[in-house]
Amino acid sequence: GKGNFRHFMEKELHDNPVMIGDTLNRMIDPATRMPVLPDLAIDLAAIPRITISACGSAFYAGLTARYWLEEYARIPVDADVASEFRYRAPPLARDQLGLVVSQSGETADTMAALRYMRQLGCKVMSVVNVPESTMARESDLLLETIAGPEISVASTKAFTAQLTVLAGFTLALARARGTRDDATIGALVSALMELPAKAAQVLNDDEIIRALAAEIQDARDVLFFGRGSMMPIALEGALKLKELSYIHAEGYPAGEMKHGPIALIDPSVPVIAAIPSGPLFEKTASNLQEAAARGGHIIVFSDKEGAAKLAGIATRTIILPDCDPFVAPILYAIPVQLLAYHVAMLKGTDVDQPRNLAKSVTVE
Ligand code: F6R
Repeated sequence: GKGNFRHFMEKELHDNPVMIGDTLNRMIDPATRMPVLPDLAIDLAAIPRITISACGSAFYAGLTARYWLEEYARIPVDADVASEFRYRAPPLARDQLGLVVSQSGETADTMAALRYMRQLGCKVMSVVNVPESTMARESDLLLETIAGPEISVASTKAFTAQLTVLAGFTLALARARGTRDDATIGALVSALMELPAKAAQVLNDDEIIRALAAEIQDARDVLFFGRGSMMPIALEGALKLKELSYIHAEGYPAGEMKHGPIALIDPSVPVIAAIPSGPLFEKTASNLQEAAARGGHIIVFSDKEGAAKLAGIATRTIILPDCDPFVAPILYAIPVQLLAYHVAMLKGTDVDQPRNLAKSVTVE
């Protein structure tokens, strides 16, 4: 049931701290505090490439994993939405790994992508929330997310669970391949372990997100920007806002702004950026500076230090707990989804059952 919550979506967002903790407990060896690599019939340390495919939010989790796997495990990764991947006739090498991501494990296009990968001789690992699903049955290895049932049509805790599992997998692979030393991996594991408490903190002070929701509820268009592993979180923020509140929203890599979307910017178009401190902070900040110079209404999700640096250009700042840039996509996904929830609440839309959408898309 929903317990004391008004909607399943709200309840499922609040499941995050416990769910992330449970997920990590399964992936991290308590004695060594090191990530455990799943047991696959092939040598994961030796795979030359990973091809990721999925749909919707699950695809954005896969896209985030692409950044992680390339940077930390030094594996070449490609990622494409399943409805394109399956008809592109992409050549795949037999020794590469296929990776599909799905809450339901039944999405028709993702299922077709999985079958295509196996047909070409690849082993396929699936990150799936329903262990009895078709995808779970047909893949060579199941990396189960243990988010529990997700009732709300919009994916929330299943998305953060996918990210958490993929982050753990990245570190396990980095260790197996020797691309990061144990001290570094230990520090990144600690950063993951701090997420449940930080997620709880974000959920507890959602007053400011509600205030932000009131500010943007009448917008016709909203732009979301992010760079690097935060780029998929910008896409996720835009997807959630459009599906729940029916406000037109677009997510973009921040560096693409000047190649087109900047033409949209005027005081009526909120520009929301997920911009944690880290190596890409300054680059993203300079994109926001350009948007501000064109009268943009700049809203930033950042940490204390980042918020202080952006004080001159942001009209509203959501301050999140400090975190290692590695885990920032997981932490920042929560307030971005919460924002869409609050806007939908204010607009009075059907939060758990948005129009025209189905929880599981079993036709292509
Ligand atoms: C967005 C959303 C959808 C799903 C997509 C894939 O909130 O829920 O975009 O993420 O339909 O579904 P699964 O994960 O079941 O394959």
